[in-house]
Amino acid sequence: MNQSELKIYKAWDLPTRLFHWINFSAVICLIFFGLLMLFKKELGITSMEAKISLKTIHVIIGYVFVVNLAFRILWGFLGNRYARWRAILPGRGFMQSLRDYRTSMRSGNTQQFVGHNPLGRLAVCCLLLLMLVMAFTGLIRAATDIYYPPFGSLVAGYVAAPGVDPDSLIPYDPAGLEPSRAEQLKTFKEPFGEIHLYTAYALMLLIVLHIVAVVVTDLREGGSIISAMFTGRKVLSGKPVDDDS
Ligand code: HEM
Repeated sequence: MNQSELKIYKAWDLPTRLFHWINFSAVICLIFFGLLMLFKKELGITSMEAKISLKTIHVIIGYVFVVNLAFRILWGFLGNRYARWRAILPGRGFMQSLRDYRTSMRSGNTQQFVGHNPLGRLAVCCLLLLMLVMAFTGLIRAATDIYYPPFGSLVAGYVAAPGVDPDSLIPYDPAGLEPSRAEQLKTFKEPFGEIHLYTAYALMLLIVLHIVAVVVTDLREGGSIISAMFTGRKVLSGKPVDDDS
């Protein structure tokens, strides 16, 4: 690469970078506590208090994850042009840009982008979709397992036996529950747990692919896409496709 052709571009604004690193940290912690819950028996975690504590920690980190994700959805309408949904969601002309990108890769003169390249856009969309499913199913399980907000009091109110204060219900304790409604709740929450678990597996796989793809792209295309998520700036040679400055 001719060093004299290198130019610095402002890619990721500060809120986008903050979202990315908060999201990364939250997801790693959620996976860690999720796996602890999943393999609790194998790890010798048997007491009900320990199980509920693990779940509670997971849910509290989950709130950070959900609020951060909600912020990113909003920022897609307010952020700089590379943070906007228009630059991320596949819209009109996307398939052509994907073909152009593939052709340029094959020719050995890969197109440069200040924002995401078309494959990166697809990856980000899949990651966001899976994370939305995790957030939704996680909030449902938080309510149906341990009566936590935002839907917990609604659930507790439904399963509490007549005359029992819903706030007095203790997770996994049948005392104070209306038996037929408790049974209904069990049937209702099961599929959300299954979806939460299998989506977590898919997300873990995609995160690994995402990291491999970013490292490979960084090595192939001149080495600034990883540092750009820290500094906000990309150093590119030639004219990026998505820059009209
Ligand atoms: C990327 C985000 C997340 C990942 C990777 C993740 C991962 C996991 C995993 C692996 C489990 C164990 C599943 C099992 O034991 O069957 C789990 C369970 C759980 N998660 Fe998450 N989770 C995420 C987000 C959330 C969020 C946002 C919440 C709620 C605020 C949440 C609430 C729960 C609850 C309540 C359980 C227990 C469900 C059960 O016992 O079946 N999770 N999660």
